[in-house]
Amino acid sequence: MAHFIKRELETAFVHRFSHGTMPLMNVFKNSFHYHMLSGLNLAYWIYGPSTAQGTPLAAKLGSPFLLSLLTGIFLFAELSNLSTHITLRNLRPPGTRVRRVPYGYGFDLVSCPNYLFETIAWVVIAAMTRSLASVLFLVVSTGQMYLWAVKKHKQYKREFADYPKSRKAMIPFIL
Ligand SMILES: NC(=O)c1ccc[n+]([C@@H]2O[C@H](COP(=O)([O-])OP(=O)(O)OC[C@H]3O[C@@H](n4cnc5c(N)ncnc54)[C@H](OP(=O)(O)O)[C@@H]3O)[C@@H](O)[C@H]2O)c1
Repeated sequence: MAHFIKRELETAFVHRFSHGTMPLMNVFKNSFHYHMLSGLNLAYWIYGPSTAQGTPLAAKLGSPFLLSLLTGIFLFAELSNLSTHITLRNLRPPGTRVRRVPYGYGFDLVSCPNYLFETIAWVVIAAMTRSLASVLFLVVSTGQMYLWAVKKHKQYKREFADYPKSRKAMIPFIL
């Protein structure tokens, strides 16, 4: 819930989008992704009767320390994701469609650190819940974000002749 509330708030108060709308088909594609694959799928398996019969998460994970560690990594990933979105916002003066090369936290390693940190957050959710439903959501989301990252990375290289050569698309030093 916190993850998605954060995203709603970012959409309203952080992002400076260049388009006020999106293709109609995206409404169906995105709604399926978020309401079915995430909402219904995760809710059914994680909050459904079979798991709601009172095993606290710490007990399921076998250790309160592990729960705290995973929660810490989740918070790190979410705050890092927010930081990258603020960096992108600050590249564009209000009311314009200007695009610039982002630098700084995360961006010195990859073109789309926002997707990298988002992936880390969902890895934590999968590890915490130990549910195949979470793993399925993680795989589909990461696959989609990786394809976006490759596209954005290529666009940066086309657009800016001085784009940093060592920067990868989404996975530092690898991809
Ligand atoms: N990684 C995630 O956190 C994630 C994953 C899936 C979906 N989403 C959601 O999808 C929406 C878009 O987010 P996103 O993560 O995919 O990021 P994004 O669309 O790549 O970028 C976010 C914002 O930064 C602007 N931007 C990107 N690169 C820029 C540059 N070089 N110079 C100036 N402005 C730039 C974008 O403008 P344009 O409109 O011009 O692109 C957009 O307004 C958000 O609502 C987000 O919550 C996020």
